[in-house]
Amino acid sequence: MSDATVPYTTNNAGVPVESDSDSLTAGALGPILLHDHYLIEKMAQFNRERVPERVVHAKGSGAYGIFEVTQDVSQFTRADLFQPGRRTEMLARFSTVAGEQGSPDTWRDPRGFALKFYTEQGNYDLVGNNTPIFFVRDTIKFQDFIRSQKRRPDNGLRDNDMQWDFWTLSPESAHMVTWLMGDRGIPRTWRHMNGYGSHTYMWQNAGGERFWVKYHFKTDQGIEFYTQAEGDAMAGEDPDVHRRDLFTAIRSGNHPSWTLYVQVMPFDDAWDYRFNPFDLTKVWPHGDYPLIEVGRMTLNRNPDNFHIHIEQAAFEPSNLVPGISVSPDKMLLGRIFSYPDTHRYRIGPNYAQLPPNRPHVPVHSYAKDGPMRYDPSTAAAPYAPNSYGGPAADTERYGEPAGWDVAGRMVREAYPLHREDDDFGQAGTMVRQVLDNAARDRLVSNVTGHLLNGVSDKVQLRAVQYWRNVDKDLGDRIATGIGKA
Ligand code: NDP
Ligand code: HEM
Repeated sequence: MSDATVPYTTNNAGVPVESDSDSLTAGALGPILLHDHYLIEKMAQFNRERVPERVVHAKGSGAYGIFEVTQDVSQFTRADLFQPGRRTEMLARFSTVAGEQGSPDTWRDPRGFALKFYTEQGNYDLVGNNTPIFFVRDTIKFQDFIRSQKRRPDNGLRDNDMQWDFWTLSPESAHMVTWLMGDRGIPRTWRHMNGYGSHTYMWQNAGGERFWVKYHFKTDQGIEFYTQAEGDAMAGEDPDVHRRDLFTAIRSGNHPSWTLYVQVMPFDDAWDYRFNPFDLTKVWPHGDYPLIEVGRMTLNRNPDNFHIHIEQAAFEPSNLVPGISVSPDKMLLGRIFSYPDTHRYRIGPNYAQLPPNRPHVPVHSYAKDGPMRYDPSTAAAPYAPNSYGGPAADTERYGEPAGWDVAGRMVREAYPLHREDDDFGQAGTMVRQVLDNAARDRLVSNVTGHLLNGVSDKVQLRAVQYWRNVDKDLGDRIATGIGKA
């Protein structure tokens, strides 16, 4: 019987199908016929419903919003989105790092804070975390670091021993591990955490003057966190609690916002600043470079389809716009290659055409063809240069890349040390000067709980020394806590 209020089912070619429920067989008990095209199409489509999950940051969600400039920072950058009065549409995606698609939102982990701004000069992506720092300072260690945080190859289990083994053999991780084991390691919601660009970037103003900058998105909702016990309980009660919270808040008109501040370092300060300003395991103390307000981002629209807008969103630190550039940070330089490469594998070479990734300005590129291409190139001829009016690079306006002078032999060497560079100093400052007694107690409890869960004696002993290097008293308390005093 047909119901005029609902549309009739069609196959993917728009042709009406005969049944939603019965496959085509030779008699009711007979074998299924291969030419039941609709059945085969349905089955084949289903078998291909997933794109591979992100190799890291697989579990997450996000929303669309707006970024509004509230203060004039045009003396530091000519980037269109940071000019006075600008409002720029944007997409944000938050995530955990190590967990898989179905993993609980409240596992202790850094949170991704990925932003895509649809600017007048093309897409600008700022792919940061809720931490101003990171575990390692050279791209060549990232793959090892991630493998130590993911699952074991033999039994498929996560393993605290691998985590502490890697961390304690990589002392540059101490600042980030201190941060992670502290209160902010389990945010109460994504709305209640800050975001940081983490790396040092370069800004360039209209006069060509260069500056080094760090981005800080401070939550207007205030910082809130779960204790370890609350996070563990929530992992069972509602593993999707952060995804649900963001979606329901926005749906009910409660639009979360963050105020963007930057720290700005004059170009020439970098070379003999007391810390290496390009080392991702370090912050720039606020006392040296105070926060300067730039604007506010507000998330106000839930995507209407999770797969299209969130799963297929492709963030890439390589999306930089005129006025914003990279720095000598060896992590950032490695990431420039990594993200577009993984998108080509995970979603396909034409990922930039998909709705969340499409720029809101016309694209005049010479890219063409390839799987799933549906936007024809607008170029008048498929090659450059051509004499038929195809796009031509505006080298007069955009030809001078913002950069720094480089000379020397090709080497594999660590950064030159600055006066106060070491692996433990800033972590110790956090423990002694930023945390209060209660926060320090929770830090000790979180670390001992983690170390008592499957970490070998050998690695536990190294961990005690690692924490004593951060802070003698803290290390002694952890040693007592795990019975290794
Ligand atoms: P400040 O006293 O000016 O800053 C300390 C900052 O620590 C706060 O502004 C806050 O960052 C952050 N913070 C507070 N509680 C926690 C916590 N439980 N876990 C993680 N971060 C927390 O001092 P300095 O700028 O001189 O920095 C001192 C130490 O503070 C650093 O060694 C670093 O460990 C930590 N820190 C510094 C940041 C920076 O960019 N300078 C940023 C974050 C931490 P926020 O205002 O961003 O919320
Ligand atoms: C995701 C690589 C360091 C933040 C990813 C992905 C890869 C990757 C391959 C998956 C992307 C996708 O499939 O869409 C690397 C490499 C790094 C590095 C090689 C170091 C050299 C960092 C750092 C940060 C960061 C330092 C933060 C400051 C993120 C975020 C995502 C992500 C937020 C998720 C993006 C999204 O929401 O889609 N990274 N990463 N990564 N990375 Fe990194």
